[in-house]
Parts: sequence; structure tokens; C-alpha cells
Amino acid sequence: MGHWHPVVLHFPIVLLLISVFLGLTGKKIPKVLLTVATITALITAISGFFLGTGAGTKGDLLFWHQWLGGGVALLAVVWYWLDASDLGSKMYTKAVQIILAGLIGFTGHYGGMITHGEDFLALPVEKRADEIPENPLIYHDIVSRILDESCVKCHNPNKTKGELLMTSIPELLKGGESGPAIIPGNYEESELIVRLHLPHEHEDHMPPEGETHLTDSEIQILERWIALNISDTLRLSHLDNNEPLLALVEAMKQPDLARKWEKLPVITDSTITRFTSDYVTIKRLAGNLNALRVNMYTPPEYSPDLITDLSSIASNIVELDVSGLPIGKVELSMIAACNNLEWLEVDRTPITDLETDTLKVLSKLRTLKIYDTAIGDKTLATFNHIESLEQIYLWKTQITDEALLEFRTAKPLVRINTGVDLETQALFLKKDSITEK
Ligand code: HEC
Repeated sequence: MGHWHPVVLHFPIVLLLISVFLGLTGKKIPKVLLTVATITALITAISGFFLGTGAGTKGDLLFWHQWLGGGVALLAVVWYWLDASDLGSKMYTKAVQIILAGLIGFTGHYGGMITHGEDFLALPVEKRADEIPENPLIYHDIVSRILDESCVKCHNPNKTKGELLMTSIPELLKGGESGPAIIPGNYEESELIVRLHLPHEHEDHMPPEGETHLTDSEIQILERWIALNISDTLRLSHLDNNEPLLALVEAMKQPDLARKWEKLPVITDSTITRFTSDYVTIKRLAGNLNALRVNMYTPPEYSPDLITDLSSIASNIVELDVSGLPIGKVELSMIAACNNLEWLEVDRTPITDLETDTLKVLSKLRTLKIYDTAIGDKTLATFNHIESLEQIYLWKTQITDEALLEFRTAKPLVRINTGVDLETQALFLKKDSITEK
């Protein structure tokens, strides 16, 4: 019987609202319209009460929805009776109509919150906008954040799917229809984790079809938390150095970073190891991000291969340090192919205006260290094309004061770091025999 509720409920809403509209605008309400509206309102209310008895825990939303819905049906009957018996003065009927319209609105709204979540009318906002604290509590700041975002909308006191509540640790332990959702220390057999690993199309997979699935790192965080005995006092700083949660949480602390780089080609640890050598270190920016920081050091016998060999992972390189290396045109073309580069250190290299033109394609470059090179005004003009640039480290170059001033005027927001402030620099230059600017 309860299953009919979602099907029939639309009839009384539409029919009653049409009747109210006709009534309030002084038109005649067809008898059959009011009759069908009242009957469907009764069916809806009765089937709703049946549906509600199966709901397990009753939250406030369900409570209000039920009684407001009951009110709608009752009022519809009163109106029908007033209409049939000719007893009702115009005043009474009008009042009933107005209250009825209001009740329908509230009932529908509470019903909507039950089926679609409390914020179903709200604009989509980022839940838990607050940042993860420096030393977060693993359950409170991390685990429950993941559950809140992906699971709680169906597993809360107002809507308890599978009779499982996911708003506290005791509730998770108590579990739902099929027993405890988690077994402390044993994530492999915890129902909650088992369901996350089912194939997406499996009917028991959580969250169900159409919802956003958890990421691998989110699943791993839940697993590690269960493996560590679901503590609610455990903090990031308590974790052992080799506990995988450490890196997972660090990465989650920078959600923007993870989201920002989620489209990068996947890079495995073994690839990273393969490219690493005594003269090349490669690190992920955080956690298991595919964004890399690459540092290079000059080997005794330098060849451009050191840099060009990395071309297959060029898109993953977000930070690159080749300072002090004898790089030239070939290497700069490879650097220009790093289309996600945000941080570049080419200071103390033999590059000149002749090669730097290629760098203007680096549309994401934010920080550039290019001091102590022979670049001149032409290179500075090239940087004018890089909209994303935020800061340049620029001293001991051939750039003229006029060009620098012009650049500063054109790009007032770019911070130009000249190493030492000008006064000290002047003093320094006077005492020193170095004549460069
Ligand atoms: C769109 C609604 C929805 C969302 C979101 C959702 N679930 Fe469920 N969940 C259900 C329904 C419906 C059931 C009951 C049917 C079943 O057992 O498959 C259920 C049942 C479960 C059960 C089994 C309860 C029991 O004891 O039978 C677990 C465990 C579970 N969900 C975990 C999760 C986790 C973890 C998430 C978040 C990643 C999640 N659910 C998100 C709808 C949802």
C-alpha cells in the first residue's frame, strides 16, 4: 500500500491547487474535480502513513510531513463537506482554501526534503567549506567528512536506507539490516568497505547508481581508519611515519590541489622510479597526485638527454628545477612542452634571448627563477605574454632599467624579486668589482 504514495501524491497536489485557484478567483469548481481531489488526497495520506511505518527511525522531517499531509487530507474533506452541504459561508470556504494551499506547499516541501535531502532546493554548495585543520582528528575531520559528503544524505535519521545511520561511530557499529557496517580492525569484512569495492553496476554498490563514487584515496582512508580500530581521538600527528593514512590525509588537506590535478595522465610509482637517477629526483607534489616536482643536478658528463628523456611525462611536470645546468635550445623546447608547468627554475644557466622565446607557451607558469643569466629585454617582453605569471626572480641579467620599468607598469601584479633591495645592491655594486646591473 505504501508504495502507491509516490505515485498518487501528485494528483491531489495538482487537483486541489486548481480547485483553490478556481475558488479564489470566484469561478465555479466542478463537483467532479473536488470529489476526485478529495479522494486522492485521502488515498495519498493513508498510503503515506503505511509507507512511514516502514521507515524505522522517524526524523523531524517525516514527523512534520506526515501531520501536515494528514492536515491536507482532513481539510480537503472539510471543504468537500462545506461545498456539498451548502453550509459554508463564502468566508469559511475562502479560509479553508487559503490554508489548504499553504499546507500543500509545506507538506510537499518536507516530502521533498525527505526524498531528495534537506538541502534539495539549495543551490549546490560545497559541504563543509571549513578547511581541514593542521593536525586533524582522523574520524571527526576526515572520515566523517567523506561520509557526510557521499553517504549521509541517504543514511540519516530522516532517511535511513537499509536501516543504516552513518552519522556517528556507535551507529556505524550497530549497522543496518544486514548487521554492523564496520568491524573494528577488519576492513576486509566490513560491510561498508565490501560495498564500496563492488562493481559500480552491482545493485549493492554504494553509493548507488547515479551518485558520485568515492575516490580510491577516500576508500583507502576509510580502510585505514577501520584497520586502526576506528578511534575517535586519533590525530594525524599520532600516526606512524610509515602509516599510509599519513600521505592520504596530507593529500586530502589540499583538496583543491587534488581536484586541480585530477585530469593529469596517471603516473605510476614504477615510472617515477624509472626516470629517477643520481641526477634527477622526482616527487609527487602531495599524496598520490600525478603532479610532479622534478629537480636536476649537473652530472660530470652532461648531455641534453638528461632533460629530453622526460618528454613522455612532460604533462605531469608541474615544478621543474634545472638551475645551474648547461641548458640550451633543445632543453628549452622540452621545457616548453611541459604544458602544466607552474614553477620553473632556470637561474644560473647559459640561456639568452635567442632561446627563451619558446617559453611563452607556458600558460600556467606562476613562478620563474631566471636570475644570473644573460637574458635581456627581449626575454622580458616574452614574459609579457605569460598571463599566469605571479613572480619572477630577476637579478644579474642584461635587462635594462627602462625595460624593467615598462614591464612593471604593464604587469603591476607580478612580483619582481631582485634579490636584494636596490639600496643595498647599489652599495654592494660600489664595493664590488662586478659591473653588471
Ligand atoms: C542515494 C542513496 C544512497 C546513498 C548516497 C548511499 N546509500 Fe547506502 N544504501 C542505500 C539503500 C537504498 C540501501 C539499502 C538497499 C541495499 O541494502 O542495497 C543502502 C544500504 C547500505 C548499506 C547496508 C546496510 C545494511 O545493513 O543492509 C551500507 C553498508 C551502505 N548503504 C553504505 C553506504 C555508504 C558507505 C555510502 C557512501 C559512500 C552510501 N551507503 C551511500 C542508499 C544509499
